Amino acid sequence: MAISLLPLVLSGILAWYVGYILNQITNRNPKRPPIVFHWVPFFGSAIPYGIDPYAFFHECREKYGDVFTFVCMGRKMTAYLGVKGNDFLFNGKLADLSAEEAYSHLTTPVFGKDVVYDVPNHVLMEHKKFIKSGLGFPQFRSYVPLILNEMDAFLNTSPEFGPGKEGIADLLKTMPVMTIFTASRTLQGAEVREGFDAGFADLYHDLDQGFSPINFVFPWLPLPRNRRRDRAHNIMQQTYLNIIKQRRSSPENPGSDMIWTLMNSKYRDGRNLKEHEIAGIMIALLMAGQHTSAATIMWALTLLGSKPEVIEMLYEEQKRVLGEGENFHVDFDKYKDLPLLNYVIRETLRLHPPIHSIMRKVKRDLPVPDSKMVIPAGSHLLAAPGYSATHEDFFTHAKEFCPERWGERPDDEENAEQIDYGYGLVSKGGSSPYLPFGAGRHRCIGEQFAYMHLTTIICKFVHDYTWTTVGKVPDVDYSSMVALPLAPVKIAWKRRD
Ligand code: HEM
Repeated sequence: MAISLLPLVLSGILAWYVGYILNQITNRNPKRPPIVFHWVPFFGSAIPYGIDPYAFFHECREKYGDVFTFVCMGRKMTAYLGVKGNDFLFNGKLADLSAEEAYSHLTTPVFGKDVVYDVPNHVLMEHKKFIKSGLGFPQFRSYVPLILNEMDAFLNTSPEFGPGKEGIADLLKTMPVMTIFTASRTLQGAEVREGFDAGFADLYHDLDQGFSPINFVFPWLPLPRNRRRDRAHNIMQQTYLNIIKQRRSSPENPGSDMIWTLMNSKYRDGRNLKEHEIAGIMIALLMAGQHTSAATIMWALTLLGSKPEVIEMLYEEQKRVLGEGENFHVDFDKYKDLPLLNYVIRETLRLHPPIHSIMRKVKRDLPVPDSKMVIPAGSHLLAAPGYSATHEDFFTHAKEFCPERWGERPDDEENAEQIDYGYGLVSKGGSSPYLPFGAGRHRCIGEQFAYMHLTTIICKFVHDYTWTTVGKVPDVDYSSMVALPLAPVKIAWKRRD
């Protein structure tokens, strides 16, 4: 019986498959964005998108225009490219688009309950306001020497750098560690930094594995790594809870770091943040800043190493502004007088924004302006500001590392309309092709911290070393959640006299 049914089942599957393919070729519904042709149902375009999203977008744009839908692991993703697409997603209405529904399954097990995408949007906006109040110039001023001390301790003892006069360093190995030491010492406080010398790094790694792309698609799989993620979350949460308790019971004011800021923040209704909310926000900040900043440092150092003449220009700039020899002093208040260094960071983020795809779940049918197309509720909308930022339509020699270009360019984002979603004025980014920190209600609030952090790190490198990139500038590895340089990522350094 089973044998005689088999041909029938197989021919049924074949007929369905032929129908699936023919449907893609013949059934073009003008009210829907065109579907990117794919041979394998469910997987759809996952492989070309996963290997190189920008190349995939480029190819699709040539065929279908700025708006198209592709299937990716069972989801329908509608990409809207270009500045109009950026604006459409970043400034969409809350009733139309939800970041919470796009990301929560991935982020909540890592950050914890009642924070970030596990709360209604207005609560996230209040949390962002609290965080922003802990990220001001007075804090940044105090963070700069802490970062420099951490860097000295790290670089002088690292086998890749060490006290020698020259060597070859693997940035993929060293920069994530240096970033976590410097970011945790500043944003998270001394106790958390000490934790990284005592086993936190493994916990951090386990927690971080929660962000594997597979969890984006199958968050419920009972994988061992998800069990390790949950265990790491519980231990880290407990660590923060202990720090909070300790701080509450100690008469000593530990200064104005983020934990302290959150402990003293109040919701609009007068309520204090609960302790597990503070712990969740701290874990979220640790993760939000780590990969983005580590990736940017690696890219900046390799790009600079491919143009050593820019390193020398930076050295001259810092000698002029920060002094030389005995008089060299890294001073946060002078960072605004280091334009070339600022352009280097901007240009690095233009070529390599850590986040290549920004997503939202579509909550109700969404007409695409100036077209007949409607993006259906239940699908996902995707914008890729990194695509416009590296396109010749907006930047000449768009693929080249040219920090000087920013000296001649008006700041589109600064000139754009601003709006307050409850955590201070933010740019709508309307017509800017360059939005590495996003725009609108979900815009990054870590930008100024990231600039302070990156400026301090690059300043110190330029002061202490000259370097060249070993081999060519690496290709991009899109296999993790942020766009990292593909191994090997090495620089040959020499200590300056
Ligand atoms: C949001 C990029 C560093 C905290 C975002 C978004 C982008 C971004 C593109 C918007 C995401 C979306 O619209 O879906 C970056 C880059 C960084 C960086 C390129 C460094 C080079 C940081 C740091 C922190 C941070 C250091 C923490 C101190 C946040 C937070 C949000 C955010 C809290 C808001 C999430 C939301 O409202 O949905 N970031 N980020 N980021 N980032 Fe950053």
